[in-house]
Amino acid sequence: MSSIRDRLTSSPEPEDSAPGFAEHDTRSAGGSGAAESEPVAVSHHGANDDTKLAELAVSGLFLLAAVGAVGFIATYVAWPFKYGESGYQYYTPLLGITMTLALVGVGAGAVLWAKTLMVDEETVQERHHLNSDPEDRAGAAAVLKQGAEESGLMKHPILRRSFLLSQAALAILPIPLLFGLGHFQHKERALAKTGWKKGSRLLDELGRPVKIGDLDVGGVKSVFPDVPGGRRMADSAALLIRMRPDQLKTTKNRENWVYEGHIVYSVICTHLGCPVKLYEQQTHHLFCPCHQSTFDAANGAKVLFGPAARNLPQLAITVDADGYFVARDDFYEPVGPSYWERKPSYKEPTYDGTAL
Ligand code: FES
Repeated sequence: MSSIRDRLTSSPEPEDSAPGFAEHDTRSAGGSGAAESEPVAVSHHGANDDTKLAELAVSGLFLLAAVGAVGFIATYVAWPFKYGESGYQYYTPLLGITMTLALVGVGAGAVLWAKTLMVDEETVQERHHLNSDPEDRAGAAAVLKQGAEESGLMKHPILRRSFLLSQAALAILPIPLLFGLGHFQHKERALAKTGWKKGSRLLDELGRPVKIGDLDVGGVKSVFPDVPGGRRMADSAALLIRMRPDQLKTTKNRENWVYEGHIVYSVICTHLGCPVKLYEQQTHHLFCPCHQSTFDAANGAKVLFGPAARNLPQLAITVDADGYFVARDDFYEPVGPSYWERKPSYKEPTYDGTAL
């Protein structure tokens, strides 16, 4: 079989064309003229004007790609992008423009290169059998055998056994990791617990306990559990809302979850976890600023609008002997976005009206 080089320097035979394909044009790298029917290998020596022009054009496109890539990196690293900084509004357009230059430069350069400077040749490669012949297989077996002998594995039984043991141990190494997944995990329901405990006082943002009378009707206050580090527990942030008792529609079995018009909800949106703290006093609506989920604070924080699929979890509260608000327990269900191991339903606790 002739090599590509041989074929490049010989005239193409019409019968070389593959059946069903039109005869391939063989492009002359030297341009028009004497080499119309005779393929010529690409050569810088004696290249005519067309070739030189093509070479320059392709190089220019590649250079453009390089400039675009450098510009992209420089923009990414050095251009001001923070809102309000001088020229920040050009950051994203510049990234787009420079990346476009880089990609288009490379793509267009490659296409032009192939169309103008590369030899246009069609080659058929003969297939050979994929399986190796018996001599090769016997040779490979002999090499393996020789390797095993030279490694000393056959001669030293203790080495052999310890080696096999180590390999078996390595093979089972990933298996315990599987037990960290799915139903084998979260038996302690870590995601279902927050910092709230039975009797935890409600602290405001400054760490002061909140008592009855601190909040006017229509007021709201962020509250945190009175436990060590409670104000930094992201899963425990809650909102205490006060409305007139007759405005609250307490659902069955939740009569003692509220106290004289005071009600507490988790502030973590059940959609994707943004803080839900925008309260509209007239409608009692709680808004999530991220995707506009709207909850009815007067009616168990039911979802009125938006992508959230669950009500905001409610924290059952009462007051202690000194008049401070306290939690009756932790949230009865996991706070925040739903997750795949979350049980479909949690049994709601009921409380009698006694204070803690
Ligand atoms: S995170 Fe609240 S609506 Fe999406």
